[in-house]
Amino acid sequence: MTNIFDEMFARSIKDPEGFWGEAAQAIDWIKPCDQVLDASKPPYYRWFRGGVLNTCYNAVDRHVAAGRGDQAAIIYDSPVTKSGRTITYRELQDEVSRVAGVLRSVGVEKGDRVIVYMPMIPEAPIAMLACARLGAVHSVVFGGFAPAELATRINDAKPKAIISASCGVEGSKVLPYKPMLDAAIDQATHKPAACLIYQRPQVAAELKPGRDHDWVSSAAAATPAECVPCAATDPLYILYTSGTTGQPKGIVRDHGGHAVALYWTMKHIYNVEPGEVYWAASDVGWVVGHSYIVYGPLLYGCTTVVYEGKPVGTPDAGAFWRMISQHKITTLFTAPTAFRAIKRDDPEGEFIKKYDLTGFRALFLAGERSDPDTIQWAENRLHVPVLDHWWQTETGWAISGNPLGVHLFPVKYGSATKPMPGWDVRIHNPENEEVKRGDIGAIVVKLPLPPGSLPTLWNADDRYVKSYLTEYPGCYQTGDAGFMDDDGYVNIMARTDDIINVAGHRLSTGGMEEVLASHQDVAECAVIGVADQLKGQVPLGFLVLKAGVKRSHDDIVKDVVGLVREKIGAVADFKRAVVIDRLPKTRSGKILRGTMQKIADSVEFKVPATIDDPAILPEIASALKTLGYAKSSS
Ligand code: COA
Ligand code: AMP
Repeated sequence: MTNIFDEMFARSIKDPEGFWGEAAQAIDWIKPCDQVLDASKPPYYRWFRGGVLNTCYNAVDRHVAAGRGDQAAIIYDSPVTKSGRTITYRELQDEVSRVAGVLRSVGVEKGDRVIVYMPMIPEAPIAMLACARLGAVHSVVFGGFAPAELATRINDAKPKAIISASCGVEGSKVLPYKPMLDAAIDQATHKPAACLIYQRPQVAAELKPGRDHDWVSSAAAATPAECVPCAATDPLYILYTSGTTGQPKGIVRDHGGHAVALYWTMKHIYNVEPGEVYWAASDVGWVVGHSYIVYGPLLYGCTTVVYEGKPVGTPDAGAFWRMISQHKITTLFTAPTAFRAIKRDDPEGEFIKKYDLTGFRALFLAGERSDPDTIQWAENRLHVPVLDHWWQTETGWAISGNPLGVHLFPVKYGSATKPMPGWDVRIHNPENEEVKRGDIGAIVVKLPLPPGSLPTLWNADDRYVKSYLTEYPGCYQTGDAGFMDDDGYVNIMARTDDIINVAGHRLSTGGMEEVLASHQDVAECAVIGVADQLKGQVPLGFLVLKAGVKRSHDDIVKDVVGLVREKIGAVADFKRAVVIDRLPKTRSGKILRGTMQKIADSVEFKVPATIDDPAILPEIASALKTLGYAKSSS
């Protein structure tokens, strides 16, 4: 039996121009588009060709003009600094236009790139919006990345300016950002003309005369900048994400498609209304933060929340409930790992009972597979819909989910429910044919992708086509494997590449292997993701040493753990490695990472027919046992 959502979905596939053309009417255009979908150069597609708009105008000024100036735009709540404040739309407009004025005064113009390397403070979204106001392309780099990763992004994006803060505060640790920024600029071949630094009371950053500018005094003296008209197809931002090598992919997001799609999702997927408080407990460094801390809620006229804290320990497992009750939050979006942390510290949900959660309506989870236990734990204690939805940095919004604002489908545990409008999801075999319902295969999406999804990779059109559009011609390859059941529910089972998901953070094991391989004593190495009760997965390294190396294995492991922290960052959570004599390989020399992972996780597996020497597998199992893995192998 069809329902209103199924009809909506069918229309989005049959008549994408009609569907998204109508959705586009919710956005304020300086000039409406000439063509809703430009499909003249497949596999490249462009939405709203000819349209002109400004994303910052739509997210800020428009609401002030419509009488929402005194409504809270951003609630900043920082248990780690015991501070907080509320910024109205009018105040946001003033601060964003001043910061845009500062950027302009240091030479930033439409099309220039600006890197934003910030902790979770309101100045992070303000910096992003200031770029959008000028038509400059922001690229936010997550604060947990080390200088070397920041340097890679500086070299690729070639920013005219970098915006940062003097420090971040992570739980009880104060982490100075400026030394990391300076180190990254030293390492990078490209040098930004200017840096704008927000000085926090915890740490005063030393400013380099001529290059560095103080945020507060510069903004106070700046001439506010107006919104610059941008083509719908101009880039709004670049967000780097892990690829299969150490070289991250610069996902590009355009202005027009992004604004239309995100606006649409706020009502139809999240079921919120303008003026309500919507909270994505994530970080602006990730796509969830871009779409649902900054742009989605602000485009829609909601109040968004910038939370500088953790689900537990700041100060306790009641942190989220305190937030929901104090700030009258209707909708929470976070990663399952956050709930696993809460459940671990407060298994009975005692903290939940201490707060008034009557205004709380729904919990959305994404970033990794939601395990049924976690969903049920939350359902039984919160008494609101707990909805898994599946998406990627590339897609910018949910590929599949449960559209609460249109039709609530029955939850099937372990499934991310139904494809969202515009996402023609199929399960294909390696021959690019659709498999039967229930069979596992590669999850692909028939082109064109809907608005808001990536049009290309920054300065890397060929890599875009090669990475996503070549293996399954006519389709976008998601890199996830899974199946669709008879009711059309999508089930995400695993990645088909070497990407792992650590506490909802996407990381490349290939990138970590590059770091391990750079150690002087390491001849060969492999990194796999092993199951972890809290973080979903954690990385684990295998090292084969060069002949004649005499140093203790413990010292070498310590070295490589330090090296990954230094080169990639603390967020990789690379803390475990073992030294082994050789790696299991196929006869053609391919490392059998999947088999190693199954041994580590004590999952049943077949010895691959192509294995070069099966006798190696017990050696791997016994090495893993020393770390507490491979419990079931004898
Ligand atoms: N700046 C600097 N360092 C950071 C950082 C940041 N913004 N974010 C994390 N780190 C560091 C942490 O301090 C930690 O360092 P350590 O090894 O010295 O302790 C390391 O990176 C790993 O951090 P994290 O993965 O956050 O682990 P944790 O043990 O501190 O916390 C959770 C565990 C589950 C509570 C936490 O990961 C969490 O809240 N996850 C939610 C995930 C999320 O929001 N995902 C976004 C997608 S929706
Ligand atoms: P990121 O680009 O960091 O958002 O990571 C995207 C990847 O995270 C996806 O390709 C999936 O592998 C995984 N992922 C995100 N959301 C879900 C979900 N709801 N269920 C299963 N996997 C998910």
